[in-house]
Amino acid sequence: MEKIKVLTVFGTRPEAIKMAPVLKALEGSQVFEPRLAVTAQHREMMDQVLDIFKVQADYDLDIMRPGQSLSSIMVRALSGLEEVIADFSPRLLLVHGDTATTFAGALAAYYHKLDIGHVEAGLRTYDKYQPFPEEINRHLTGVLADHHFAPTERAAANLREERIPPERIQVTGNTIIDALLDVVERPHEFNREELQEIDFQAGPVILMTAHRRENWGTPLEKICSGVRRLVEEISDLQVIYPLHANPILRDTVFTILGKHPRVHLIEPLDYLDFCHLMARATIVLTDSGGLQEEAPALDKPVLVMREKTERPEGLDAGTVRLVGTDENRIYSEVKALLENEEIYQAMASAPNPFGDGKAAQRICNYLESFYLCT
Ligand code: UD1
Ligand code: UDP
Repeated sequence: MEKIKVLTVFGTRPEAIKMAPVLKALEGSQVFEPRLAVTAQHREMMDQVLDIFKVQADYDLDIMRPGQSLSSIMVRALSGLEEVIADFSPRLLLVHGDTATTFAGALAAYYHKLDIGHVEAGLRTYDKYQPFPEEINRHLTGVLADHHFAPTERAAANLREERIPPERIQVTGNTIIDALLDVVERPHEFNREELQEIDFQAGPVILMTAHRRENWGTPLEKICSGVRRLVEEISDLQVIYPLHANPILRDTVFTILGKHPRVHLIEPLDYLDFCHLMARATIVLTDSGGLQEEAPALDKPVLVMREKTERPEGLDAGTVRLVGTDENRIYSEVKALLENEEIYQAMASAPNPFGDGKAAQRICNYLESFYLCT
């Protein structure tokens, strides 16, 4: 039988992390001929993931530019993918999640009448500006997709309500748990010197990240001011904040948090260092999507600096709390969590609702049986 050509497309750090297990599963299949096209909407942040999972791109569009706009990513990704599709002629194109690359990949596939598989489908806030522009990227990708891999039953229910045929929706778990388990099971000593120097026994450690577009400007100022108050008041508290590579965030962060000796502002970490750091942190304070899924799997409470989340499963399970971006709220929520062992343990011991580490194989198995029957 001739193998089915599958083109996987991604471009950012989180997509690379979450699609690496899928790529491995496809490579192990006798049914598929897989190829990978990266838009490289992120450059070094994505490349470190490819290194860690030993993944090589077959096509690299290298589109990242400093300060790129949303439209410019779309334009460069769409036109680059057109050439890739013409060269490889896939039958199926796989995308992940909610980035500009995701939507560009799905649209390019639609223009060429390819089958489209959407991994991490069905997450919704139903607020088109939260998260921005991810809510709409994910929604539009879902409109175009033929196979919908929902990480949870709740995401699948959203898709059914949108009249996606139920037989095209598979509940798989989130592939991020596959990636995380792979990485945390590897013995590891920190690569980054700054981490080697931190005394994790000296007191509580907050692992913090913040990069979302909705939080640029004033919300980020308020977030940083809340964290500043916490380190000033709690004398043994340390904060480790690996910054996103986006320069637009840096002035604010360095101005407010830059000169405190117990706030460690560091460059983005590779995924190995980052996961092992998360495993040693006391609390995760973040506006990231992926961290809301990973931290519960490592029994870490997560405070999410957003007004809404498209991952309500963490709220229901009790591992995640939404704390918004108000300085006083962040200050008081972190303080309560650090001072009240009962609250801390309740969050830390709540079950991880995002998967069992076998999501990628489920996706591959479903696709195999689908394409063997058609
Ligand atoms: C993108 C995604 C967002 C995702 C996030 C994960 C869109 C619209 N946004 O947002 O959904 O949550 O990635 O991190 O798809 N940069 C570098 N090196 C890198 C990566 C970024 O220098 O490796 C800088 C560049 O100046 C770039 C800027 O960061 O222009 C912004 O990158 P971009 O992908 O446009 O937006 P993110 O905020 O990273
Ligand atoms: N991450 C990483 N290094 C860092 C910060 C985050 O490897 O310095 C990983 C993190 O474990 C998670 C993913 O990157 O899997 C989250 O990416 P990001 O916050 O950029 O995007 P989002 O999750 O908000 O889409």
